[in-house]
Parts: sequence; structure tokens; C-alpha cells
Amino acid sequence: MPNQPLSQLPNFLYGTAWKEDRTTALTELAVRMGFRGIDSANQRRHYSEAGVGEGLAAAYRAGLVTRNDLFLQTKFTYQRGQDHRLPYDPAASLSVQVAQSLASSLGHLATDHVDSYVLHGPSSNYDWTDADGEVWDAMHKEREAGRARLLGVGNVSLLHLQQLAATRVELPAFVQNRCYARLGWDRDVRQFCRKHDIVYQGFSLLTANQEVLQHPLIASVAASTNATPAQVMFSFARSIGILPLTGTTNAEHMKQDLASPNLTLPPNAIQAIESLAG
Ligand SMILES: NC(=O)c1ccc[n+]([C@@H]2O[C@H](COP(=O)([O-])OP(=O)(O)OC[C@H]3O[C@@H](n4cnc5c(N)ncnc54)[C@H](OP(=O)(O)O)[C@@H]3O)[C@@H](O)[C@H]2O)c1
Repeated sequence: MPNQPLSQLPNFLYGTAWKEDRTTALTELAVRMGFRGIDSANQRRHYSEAGVGEGLAAAYRAGLVTRNDLFLQTKFTYQRGQDHRLPYDPAASLSVQVAQSLASSLGHLATDHVDSYVLHGPSSNYDWTDADGEVWDAMHKEREAGRARLLGVGNVSLLHLQQLAATRVELPAFVQNRCYARLGWDRDVRQFCRKHDIVYQGFSLLTANQEVLQHPLIASVAASTNATPAQVMFSFARSIGILPLTGTTNAEHMKQDLASPNLTLPPNAIQAIESLAG
């Protein structure tokens, strides 16, 4: 399936990391508040994917949405990113681990496919390795079997993407990265994504950029647009082509986050924010 333009995807992805026994209630609340994109991972260390599935089931039971209304994304995580609660046999080949992990995710989420399947992070912080090539190939097989619609990679550098491209395999539909203002909002990776029609998903937009969130420029843009600083950050992110994630646990913040795509920032404000930190 060809990569999709940002406009055909949900405005926001609701992130389900670090919620532990609140995962079910917060996932249902997020759907109730209007989120239609849900991000998870089969990585028990940071996510309770089974809890996400229970939250979705509650939302279906309450008649809030059906499966087809949702964009569900989950991830394959190498053993080095996991604790002892593995969703696969670590003695199996990486291809088998991918198949086992996705089968387990589909069980957690009570669905026959995910809309996006993401390699959580490459096996090396520096290079795209043969192991990554094997996993990427296995992820394509899952997609061909109909168990995933689109594929992505996370926590990648420009070098990872260039090396992946050099192997002449299909490029991802998504890149999901932590987006630091001080790195020009991940400018190099975003440029690569723009050139190759890859949707860039940005996380930690607020938490990794506290100095920007508290900057007088953001306060003045927020005051002049009658928005909150967080809404300005999310609106800015969208205007430079980032599909934002939020993992807020607060209903009022959910409402504000979902309203942020309606906020249009003046071009000079976008430029000023973009050049604020790198
Ligand atoms: N691929 C990866 O390796 C990776 C890594 C990290 C995260 N992620 C994904 O990204 C998701 C989001 O994570 P994140 O790092 O961006 O941080 P986050 O978990 O969304 O944390 C956001 C923080 O900002 C606060 N906040 C204050 N005002 C807010 C507002 N108006 N809207 C939203 N938050 C507000 C939140 O507090 P309140 O709860 O009080 O609102 C919370 O403490 C995760 O759940 C996960 O799905 C992926």
C-alpha cells in the first residue's frame, strides 16, 4: 500500500506508554474524548498493550466507535529494549520473533490487523544492521499477510534511514522519533521524510522541550491566538509536517490537544518558533 498523506491520518496519536494500571481507563477516555489514533507497543516494560485492548473493548461496548473508526499502531521491540516479560521466544530467529510479537499484539488488541506496525528502534544506535534488515523483511511479510497495513521505524537517525534506503528495500510509511527543538526539531530526519513521503510522528514534543514551552515567544503566540502553550506547540508541530503524539492523562488536556489542529498560527510565528532552538 502506498504511503498515505498526513491529511488521511488521524490528527493526533494517543500514546499509551507508562500508564500501567490506568491504561484501560485512559485508553477508553481518550477514545471517548475523540482520539482515533492509538499508539502502543508489545513492550511490557513501558506499555500494557493488553490494557489498551481492554480500553478499546470498553469503548466498543459503550458504542463510542467500532474497530474501523480507529487507527491502531503497535511496535516490535528487540529483546534489548524489553524486560523479562517477552512477547516472543528469544531463542527463535528474529523473523519468528516478529511473527510471534505481532500475533500477541493482535490478541491483546482483539483485532486481525494493525493499521501501522513499527520497528521500535534499530538494533544499533549507529547503523542499520543485517538484523534490522531481517526484521524489516519479516514486517513486510506480516503486511503482505494482511496483519499490518503500513510499516514504520522509530528512534532512527538520518544515517539509519540512508543505510536502509541503500539496501533498496521499500522505505517506511512512518518514522516515529523523539523531537528535540535543540536539534532543529529533528530537521535532518524530517527533511528525509518529506523527500520520501514518509509521515514523521513526533513524541515528547512537550516533555523534551520544556525550555521552548516556557519561552516568552510561545507565551506571546499563545496569548495572541487565545490558546495554551501546549496547543501552540502541537499546532506548530503540525504546521511543519509532524503528526504529534500525546500521552496526557488529563481529560482537559486531551480536549485541548484535540482542539489544537483548529488553531492556525501566523507564518511569522511558525518561522520564529522553528528557529528558536537550532
Ligand atoms: N517510539 C518510542 O520510543 C516512544 C518513546 C516515548 C514515547 N512514545 C509514545 O509517545 C507517547 C507520548 O509520549 P511523550 O513522551 O510525548 O509524553 P507524554 O507521556 O505524552 O507526557 C506528556 C506530559 O506533558 C504533560 N502535559 C501538560 N499539559 C499538556 C497538554 N495540554 N497536553 C498534553 N500533555 C500535557 C502531561 O501531563 P498530564 O498527563 O497531566 O496532561 C505529561 O506529563 C507515549 O505514550 C508513547 O505512545 C514512543
